[in-house]
Amino acid sequence: MSKPTVRPSRPFFSSGPCAKRPGWSLSGLDQALLGRSHRAPEGRARLKEVITRSKDVLGIPLDWRVGIVPASDTGAVEMVLWALAGERGIDVLSFESFSGTWAQDLRDVLKIEDLRVLDAPYGELPDLTKVEWDRDVVLTWNGTTSGVCIPDASAIPTEHGGLVICDATSAAFAMDLPWDRLDIVTWSWQKALGGEAAHGMVALSPRAAARLAQPSPRPLPKIFRLANKKGLIEAIFEGDTINTPSMLCVEDALDGLRWAEQIGGLPALKARSQQNLAAVTKWIGTADWVSFLSVGEETRSSTSICLKITAPWFESLSAAEKGKAVKHLTDLVAKEGAGYDLASYRDAPAGLRIWGGATVETADIEALLPWLDWAYEQTRADFSA
Ligand SMILES: Cc1ncc(COP(=O)(O)O)c(C=O)c1O
Repeated sequence: MSKPTVRPSRPFFSSGPCAKRPGWSLSGLDQALLGRSHRAPEGRARLKEVITRSKDVLGIPLDWRVGIVPASDTGAVEMVLWALAGERGIDVLSFESFSGTWAQDLRDVLKIEDLRVLDAPYGELPDLTKVEWDRDVVLTWNGTTSGVCIPDASAIPTEHGGLVICDATSAAFAMDLPWDRLDIVTWSWQKALGGEAAHGMVALSPRAAARLAQPSPRPLPKIFRLANKKGLIEAIFEGDTINTPSMLCVEDALDGLRWAEQIGGLPALKARSQQNLAAVTKWIGTADWVSFLSVGEETRSSTSICLKITAPWFESLSAAEKGKAVKHLTDLVAKEGAGYDLASYRDAPAGLRIWGGATVETADIEALLPWLDWAYEQTRADFSA
């Protein structure tokens, strides 16, 4: 096939850090509070504004606490696991790389004895009917490395004895999160609103806050401490961060949140992401070499859209050769400036991954897809010869 002529105007399809919002420019951060203390009233106000706007856009209940924490989403999840794990038995869902890391943390590092790992291979979701909700439950709403997401809230009972701890970093701002069925939700700035990396967010239901106020089962480093001897450190949820944040990142997070509000909030963000998935779905219907990694249509992610190459010549390659073929394909596209960061995650099966969150324009995804067909044909010629 001949080389396409139209390139995406923004060829940014990384699953994190994700594309900046349409129209983003560094000059939008001119008002950043640089060279000033984050503990000054103005600094604290900006941090509080991130919290308030995040709560508004995500529709987080008023009685929840939301805080900005160090070390991105990993920091947010791990501070919660270290602070809470062990009070009761835990069920953890493990079905791709990140959810697998949480299972590994609990099993091998925290050495939780009463642990059930409910696992599933890449492309599938563990059987949610097997979860025991009176235990603590650790789940990842959207598996970023497999493109599989929890389809809806129905499996999670509103009344549950344990805490439901949800890593929502690639779901927040793109999918509905059932706040009435979750207790702890985490995400980071670098994902669906295209913010700068470094900081994480943790949202706590009143029940979660009460549990965190209790003495932790193990000593915690300062960087993980949401509570002290007097109980929960309430100031964290008013914008007093545990340690020093980047005020440039704060300004950028605010830029993303203001954009989200301007375009119509969560419904608009979700719709944009769904349109991106629809564009890929339409193309897959016409392509004979590629398909979704997600086995179920209802579990197909609209953010981390993961694809597998189904052509027999590719299937017959060794794992190492598959990796090389995917690199060849994605390098061809990148060299043309038609799309970057399109290879699947390093631990996932070799394939492609297109970020379809709201900051990506559907027209750019539509412009990318012919380049994938073109690069695939070149790769097939080079590898199946
Ligand atoms: C589901 C999930 N959890 C955790 C992480 C780690 O996030 P971070 O690098 O922001 O700490 C990622 C990153 O992509 C992710 O997708």
